[in-house]
Amino acid sequence: MKDGLSAKSIYRKDYMVYPWDINQLDLYFDIGSESTIVRAEMKFHLKDEEKATQDIVLNGSDLQLVSLSLNGRVLRGDDYTIDGETLTIPGAPVKSVLKTEVKIHPASNSALEGLYLSGAFLLTQCEAQGFRKITWFPDRPDVMTTYRVTMEAARSEFPVLLSNGNEEASGDLPAGRHWVRWHDPFPKPTYLFALVAGDLALVEDHFETRSGRDVVLRIYVEVENLDRCGHAMESLINAMHWDEERFDLEYDLDIYHVVATNDFNMGAMENKSLNIFNSKYVLARPDTATDADYQGIEGVIGHEYFHNWTGNRVTCRDWFELTLKEGLTVFRDEEFSADMQSRAVKRIRVIRDLRSRQFPEDDGPMAHPIRPDHYVEINNFYTATVYQKGATIIRMYHTLLGESGFQKGMKLYFERHDGQAVTCDDFLAAMADANGVNLDRFGRWYSQSGTPQVHISDHYDAATQKYTLTLKQHTPATRDQKSKKALVIPFAVGLLTTNGEDLPLQLENETDATGGTRLLVMEEAQQEYVFINIPEAPVPSLFRDYSAPVKVFYDYSPMQLATLIAYDSDAYVRWDAAQRMAQGAILEQCQRLADGKDMRLDSSLLMAFRGILSDRLADPALLAEAMILPDEDYLAEQMEVVDVDGIHVARKFIKKGLANDLASLFAKRYTELNDGQHYQKTPGAMAHRALKNVCLSYLLDTDAGESLAVAQLESSDNMTDTLAAINGLILVDSPMAGAALSEFEIKWKEDALVMDKWFTMQAIKPGPDTVNRVKELMQHPAFSIQNPNKVRSLIGVFAMLNPTGFHAADDSGYEFHADRVIELDGLNPQIAARMASAFNRWKRYDDDRKKLMKAQLQRIAVVDGLSGDVSEIINNALR
Ligand code: PHE
Ligand code: ZN
Repeated sequence: MKDGLSAKSIYRKDYMVYPWDINQLDLYFDIGSESTIVRAEMKFHLKDEEKATQDIVLNGSDLQLVSLSLNGRVLRGDDYTIDGETLTIPGAPVKSVLKTEVKIHPASNSALEGLYLSGAFLLTQCEAQGFRKITWFPDRPDVMTTYRVTMEAARSEFPVLLSNGNEEASGDLPAGRHWVRWHDPFPKPTYLFALVAGDLALVEDHFETRSGRDVVLRIYVEVENLDRCGHAMESLINAMHWDEERFDLEYDLDIYHVVATNDFNMGAMENKSLNIFNSKYVLARPDTATDADYQGIEGVIGHEYFHNWTGNRVTCRDWFELTLKEGLTVFRDEEFSADMQSRAVKRIRVIRDLRSRQFPEDDGPMAHPIRPDHYVEINNFYTATVYQKGATIIRMYHTLLGESGFQKGMKLYFERHDGQAVTCDDFLAAMADANGVNLDRFGRWYSQSGTPQVHISDHYDAATQKYTLTLKQHTPATRDQKSKKALVIPFAVGLLTTNGEDLPLQLENETDATGGTRLLVMEEAQQEYVFINIPEAPVPSLFRDYSAPVKVFYDYSPMQLATLIAYDSDAYVRWDAAQRMAQGAILEQCQRLADGKDMRLDSSLLMAFRGILSDRLADPALLAEAMILPDEDYLAEQMEVVDVDGIHVARKFIKKGLANDLASLFAKRYTELNDGQHYQKTPGAMAHRALKNVCLSYLLDTDAGESLAVAQLESSDNMTDTLAAINGLILVDSPMAGAALSEFEIKWKEDALVMDKWFTMQAIKPGPDTVNRVKELMQHPAFSIQNPNKVRSLIGVFAMLNPTGFHAADDSGYEFHADRVIELDGLNPQIAARMASAFNRWKRYDDDRKKLMKAQLQRIAVVDGLSGDVSEIINNALR
């Protein structure tokens, strides 16, 4: 375990090329849960042949070294040095063959990195630096090698033995043992290595690539889950088609394997031809998984598949370049989902997620550019910034260059870099060169952290019929960077008549008017745009399709917002206008509460909701999104000093007011949508359920709600409707909630993924009592602190999605959570660090809460042997 106090930062500027090529790695595993023997043989070839000798430097962690030999000579203790995770063999000849043997202990590996045990099977997780827990090797992404992997094991316990690439040979051994050999023809970095051994069942299908090659697709799961693989398989086939059609990219091997595990630190992993998935992103049946789960599976299956080109064929030079593969691949999976489902709904969900998770991160103690300059523990940099903000940077290239320009850039990127480990600069250069444009200033997005603010003012001159938009950009200082530069900000605008029609747009220096949306590209701190021939004072429709990851400030009047909500042609702008109006209403009541005044419900919000509820033309899923009030954490971000209880009370007041004033409209819409149709998984059916359940959540704030929820629960044939009903009953504290929860528990107690939902529903219940229920639930047989999904769905949800529980004034939430961080750190530092980040926003609360949170942070900071993962988070938060 790393010592927190001495944990050192690693800097991007210190990158050095690895001096050796390693063309071939032969691995041999003698598989056992308690202990596994790993033999490795690697052929080193010095890059600089002028030199006679060179040190060989390898990485390893928690390895029991059995033997080491160089060029046939067994090395003794004084022939090499081991310092921390580094083994150095001085002065090796230009051509060297190194053989190692180590012993590792999968069953006692609770960090879920390296080789570990999940249920009855063994599997690996190597990104970012888990390979060093398997064997000694240069564990860095720029060392790419061809792997040949031989596994041997007892056949009864480990009938399935998988690794990357193609199966080359297999055979029986005495005493009920067998062996299998895999060969992956594509050179790859260590982080893409994978191995799976155990008793797994499989579902098989096929995909014929555009050029006519047959690819065998297999999903491996524990046998009881065989009936839950259909959606993942369908999503995989869709993803393979889509990548051929949209990106002109074809799969390159004859096998594609997906393995599902219940024990996984992240969502899934793109190991070459052997993806390993958190079972949450594979397993689904209508009665066990919600529509959001189905969409999550489609997105993550796509994501990992798309990595085969953006990540595996072209990988990262070092881990600072993580967004090279992640931002790009998230962009690709977003586009895949948008093409498969409703583009507008997908965009809104992506934007909501960016605002609620990435914006606070970018304003907090862990603020970092999408390409960080330094880190202590790379696992702490798998962040919303690197992934989600990274994807918006890729989307901006796409916005600036257009689909065909973007695809030209992608093509050049692959032509230049296939088989290489490269940097974000290489990606930018390919985009620029393919399009003959200069993107140097655009490149600032890679090095600058923080969320830019764009302040907009406007002026209409009736006499000249000119309308002027003035934009000022400003990025506030962040913890890691004091001064900021102007960024390239593409922004799309439209101008509406008061009747909601798009005006044709013509800028001052142009000869003709063009369509209703205009892409403006801001490059300076302040810019002015003058539109001519504007017959009336227009309503500005700003940042259509959310064309840049910025906060937009414009002083909309209620009338303007109402016009945008009712008529704008851009779904994002409609949604955003509704969110702004709701946010304004809630924050105003919060202020009135603080001033000791009565709260009141504003008529413009009522009017807007009435319009939304009467809209029979728009996609029901969009209407649903528009009526979901901004969540408490998002509202908290808008306040100078967070008023935890005020926000909760004010939000509830507004919701209840809308529900009761518009009860008959909500009921009408609900009844229409609750049409007794059987479950279907089409986007249309999902959209219906989304709107129906938003209506139900409002109706639960009226007298009619409880019986509707109970009836929905009784007749439900799918998890989306079931959860909406139970969640609703819990949130309004209905006496029916208890029975619903226990029935659910009895039905699903053996089902890990469904029980995650059961834990979440209870952990999310607002109020200071919930911490006690969470403590009780930790004793439930279905809970395990060793299992990341359980930790996230109970402890993580409590700390991150239940503000009035976590921030209870009596310290109970903080103390409980700090105890969990400490407990988890001894088991799984990566998960502990994620949990620790719940304290990151502590400075934004009132003095009492600040003091309490600070004390808990300090208590964690002095824990003996604290991991580098947690200490980096905690020390940053305290600094
Ligand atoms: N590379 C994985 C993905 O984004 C995420 C991951 C990171 C998984 C680290 C495991 C460990 O697809
Ligand atoms: Zn990824």
